[in-house]
Amino acid sequence: MDAALHSVDELGTDRLARLVQRVAAIEAGGDPLLDLGGHRSALLFLEASTRTVLAFGGAIEALGGSWVRIDPQSSSLSKDESLRDTLRVLHAQGFDVVVVRAPWVGTSHVVARFFTGIVVNAGDGAGEHPSQAVQDVCTLARLRGGRADAVGALAGLRMAIVGDLAHSRVARSMGRLSGSLGVEVVGVAPWAWRVDPSAIGAVDVIDNLDEVLGEVDVLYMLRVQRERLASGEILDVGEYRRRFQLSARRLRAARCDVVVMHPGPVNRGVELDDAVLGSAAMHDGLQYALGVPTRMAILELLAKEAGWS
Ligand code: NCD
Repeated sequence: MDAALHSVDELGTDRLARLVQRVAAIEAGGDPLLDLGGHRSALLFLEASTRTVLAFGGAIEALGGSWVRIDPQSSSLSKDESLRDTLRVLHAQGFDVVVVRAPWVGTSHVVARFFTGIVVNAGDGAGEHPSQAVQDVCTLARLRGGRADAVGALAGLRMAIVGDLAHSRVARSMGRLSGSLGVEVVGVAPWAWRVDPSAIGAVDVIDNLDEVLGEVDVLYMLRVQRERLASGEILDVGEYRRRFQLSARRLRAARCDVVVMHPGPVNRGVELDDAVLGSAAMHDGLQYALGVPTRMAILELLAKEAGWS
């Protein structure tokens, strides 16, 4: 049987509850519920990645499985082989998990159509990044409720998602998942990069960071996605910094217990300055620590849904 995770919209209350409970249990040292021994996973990454590849790869290894990374430069995709034919090769060689990242919205759905097994969307263009959002709500739950599964502690929090809303899949997944947990989300973006508030689960989208700085519990900062700028679109970095960078001065104007998040990679000196990166508000990189447990929990859930265990 097949199973997939394409979007946070597929995470109803039950699925999310099971996921976050497993993240907390794995983090606390609990045994995995899945043995991927004998299974082969392909990390089909047609866009760059450090954290997400390491997190999925680490999770597959922790579950006893093996994985290979397929990238556009060194695979036959560079010889114009189609995605569909690449998937046929994977299937023929016994792979039954594909984790896919690609610059095109909806790619994981295409993969699921042509591949038998488990499919996880690890980022589709400016579409979605559901596993990152699960990791991030678990991080917030840890900080606010003491445990990665204390997602009830998020209700009533106020979060600003700041920056390149137009091109960010992280904003779409994190905003909607947090919104479904009762977080009041506001988007903050240059006017050219605003989106409809519903796209990010927000009550509003504004273009003035200083307006909400003192009012929010969480500042979720986004990378400027230079690779997704339309041709001819010019980024005035100086102006961006002046209006949207979280500087040390702005951090001082925020609530003293504000949590600053950023999915990485960070453009130092653009969306965040160095002083903020080293500050207590970023909790010593805790956001990255749940990367492996989160992907283990996702693979466990999907394997169960696929009838593997
Ligand atoms: C993000 C991504 O690739 O969408 N990074 C990540 O997975 N941790 C964010 C980004 O690239 O800006």
